[in-house]
Amino acid sequence: MEGHIPVLCQSILRFFQGQQGILLDGTFGGGGHSQALLEANPDLSIVALDQDPEAKSRSVALKQRFGDRFTFHGINFSELGTLQLTFTGILFDLGLSSFQLDCAQRGFSFSKAGPLDMRMNPDKGISAQAFLHQASKEELTQAIRDYGEEPQWRSVVEGVLRYRDNEAWNTTTEWVQFLEEKTTLYRSKKPGIHFATRVFQGLRIWVNQELKHLQLGLTAGFQALTSNGLLAVISFHSLEDRMVKKQFNEWCGRSIDRNDARPQQLKVVQAQRVTTKPIRASEEEIASNPRSRSAKLRIIRKL
Ligand SMILES: C[S@@+](CC[C@H](N)C(=O)[O-])C[C@H]1O[C@@H](n2cnc3c(N)ncnc32)[C@H](O)[C@@H]1O
Repeated sequence: MEGHIPVLCQSILRFFQGQQGILLDGTFGGGGHSQALLEANPDLSIVALDQDPEAKSRSVALKQRFGDRFTFHGINFSELGTLQLTFTGILFDLGLSSFQLDCAQRGFSFSKAGPLDMRMNPDKGISAQAFLHQASKEELTQAIRDYGEEPQWRSVVEGVLRYRDNEAWNTTTEWVQFLEEKTTLYRSKKPGIHFATRVFQGLRIWVNQELKHLQLGLTAGFQALTSNGLLAVISFHSLEDRMVKKQFNEWCGRSIDRNDARPQQLKVVQAQRVTTKPIRASEEEIASNPRSRSAKLRIIRKL
């Protein structure tokens, strides 16, 4: 598929082999997984979602090719309950597509000059630029320290609060230049990773409220899954993966929450693990698609 190469596609096809009924692709993107699943499983239909308005135009080709077997809705996957459907399988392939990352106008990339926006759905919420100007100290800390996991977070938060009345940060270039000149990020940079990587990640997660929507999407998805249905999630950073692992463990009666004082036998087992360890991309896949390097696939089956 041109533009975005679907990650771990062979593993997804293997686990969903012979799948029937309706599968929810909660993160349509460029439709690579949807297309491969529809081609491989003639008795399968797919309902696909994506909050990015630009994904809708890419879904047209699949609609033309697969007709009634394919439907697209431009909604956030946290709202999937509003569809009032049940699914025999669900796939969430989290994060950004290459279409979004590679488009300077979307403002996701520190290496492309464009407006400092970062919204997956530009019709909702506020841009990263507006966030930097409006956010409280606590919100900035949550974005840069908690979501970005940036060790130099203090310097960035203090810099934003100190300079934001005089700085516009209209573009990714202005923002990166500010980070380089007015914070300790550049001085403490690690080899091999751009010094603004973590700050960009934290802002993106905050602006799109990614963790809140992931938790809502997992819960709504699990509710909408038929018994025996598979729930598969591909995550790309530790915060997402931790949330998926914790929620999967809980459904599988393997709570790792230290505050959960219920005795083991009182924990309701609602699912079983299909993958005991997360599935990672092979060396070959990483060589042909570097984006797959950090991907982790976890799957459970609802009982
Ligand atoms: C990694 S890409 C998916 C790529 C897709 N599997 C493919 O093969 O082309 C993630 C997509 O999910 C969308 N997305 C991320 N979070 C979402 C959410 N909470 N609700 C709906 N769509 C979301 C993004 O806009 C993006 O297009």
